[in-house]
Amino acid sequence: MKNSNEIAPATGKLGVLLVGLGAVSTTFIAGVHAVRRGLAAPIGSLTQMGTIRLGKRTDGRSPLIKDFISLAALDDMVFGAWDIFEDNCYEAARTAGVIELDLLSQMKDELSSIKPWPAVFDRRYVKRLDGPNVKKGASKRELADQVRTDIQQFKTANGVDRMVMVWCGSTEVFMTEGEAHASLEAFERALDESDEAVPSSMVYAYAALKEGIPFANAAPNLTVDTPAMLELAGQTRSSLCGKDLKTGQTLMKTIIAPGLKARLLGIAGWYSTNILGNRDGEVLDDPESFKTKEESKKSVLDYILQPDLYPSLYDQLCHVVRINYYPPRGDNKEGWDNIDLVGWLGYPMQLKVNFLCRDSVLAAPIVLDVALFLDLAQRAGMSGIQEWLSFYFKSPMHAAALYPEHDLFIQLMKLKNTLRYLKGEELITHLGLEYYD
Ligand SMILES: NC(=O)c1ccc[n+]([C@@H]2O[C@H](COP(=O)([O-])OP(=O)(O)OC[C@H]3O[C@@H](n4cnc5c(N)ncnc54)[C@H](O)[C@@H]3O)[C@@H](O)[C@H]2O)c1
Repeated sequence: MKNSNEIAPATGKLGVLLVGLGAVSTTFIAGVHAVRRGLAAPIGSLTQMGTIRLGKRTDGRSPLIKDFISLAALDDMVFGAWDIFEDNCYEAARTAGVIELDLLSQMKDELSSIKPWPAVFDRRYVKRLDGPNVKKGASKRELADQVRTDIQQFKTANGVDRMVMVWCGSTEVFMTEGEAHASLEAFERALDESDEAVPSSMVYAYAALKEGIPFANAAPNLTVDTPAMLELAGQTRSSLCGKDLKTGQTLMKTIIAPGLKARLLGIAGWYSTNILGNRDGEVLDDPESFKTKEESKKSVLDYILQPDLYPSLYDQLCHVVRINYYPPRGDNKEGWDNIDLVGWLGYPMQLKVNFLCRDSVLAAPIVLDVALFLDLAQRAGMSGIQEWLSFYFKSPMHAAALYPEHDLFIQLMKLKNTLRYLKGEELITHLGLEYYD
């Protein structure tokens, strides 16, 4: 890792390559255009609105993060995307129905010019979807080469200096790590043989990493969470992060659970259910895609509550997660949580949470932050897993020997301390004894 004066400056254009031009991607792209033009505020984005305390509490130094460390400017972002549907970004945003037409129509020209390239797609991995805008190739290796050509042409056509790729495509069926993912050599053989162990998402990720482009995974798919991809990222010095954006119900879980645990309140059960009516909800209605999501959502409580350390409080926890596809709600998800608590002397209590959220409104600022921070990591020479970006993910990627950190507040401290470290500032431990000397 380089120190602050060695971080390459964020000059020139940053190309953001999005796989999937659905609700999350279009809400992100349209949002960046709206903010650029002063039509709306980037609420929810740490890179745009967050501050960072430097030095002692008495120093009064809390600059905006974007003034503290060099990040690409919103005006310097250019977007490219792949999708199985041919709709341009404006049309896709209308289909997604997240941003109101009033605002969307003011950006019609910019958004209409973003037309998706044909996708690498196979229904075997996303059963509830089908579309016409799909690449053809003799092997998965050839498809990866076609993605690389799209990237190179995009770079030249837009005069882009640096790029990041974010998977915002649908959730694929549940897959576990196998022989084909064990090493780069095995993976490349699998690409040549069009092995079933290589889903579409891995074809894109391979193409990005081969080009030395950082990759973020907004979905819970296995994608880059394998030894083969880590080996490739190491070779091309590319940075990685994922998996599955932490929005909605899981965001609330990682806010509430650390608080209950901090006060040593026991939890006997946590029942979570959702209704969701967008295309993501339709894809997740397939049990194999839901399984991928369920795994990602369920691990959170185990890691936060540490039942091995607190068996009498959390060992018997019954954790149930449901997602129900309910078209009338579109992107406006509704989540209900029932938490059965146990207090002093074993007395039971209940906590109910009813969150009426907008899924993509919560996801879009995360895509923005992740793209900008991954670009920073790349310029700072930080390759491989960027664990300091765990703050944004339901199922954060982590080194093999570690358990993931899910507590939102520890994650935020880790993120800000990484920024302080990169800039040679003192890390903040919150000890504070010096104020009482
Ligand atoms: N919205 C949220 O809050 C949120 C939170 C966490 C994770 N996610 C994940 O982010 C992803 C995107 O969510 P969304 O709400 O935008 O879904 P969406 O269905 O609106 O968009 C996904 C898009 O990806 C396209 N697609 C699917 N497979 C593709 C492929 N192989 N190549 C190119 N395009 C492909 C689909 O055609 C669709 O347009 C999903 O996996 C979802 O689970 C979303």
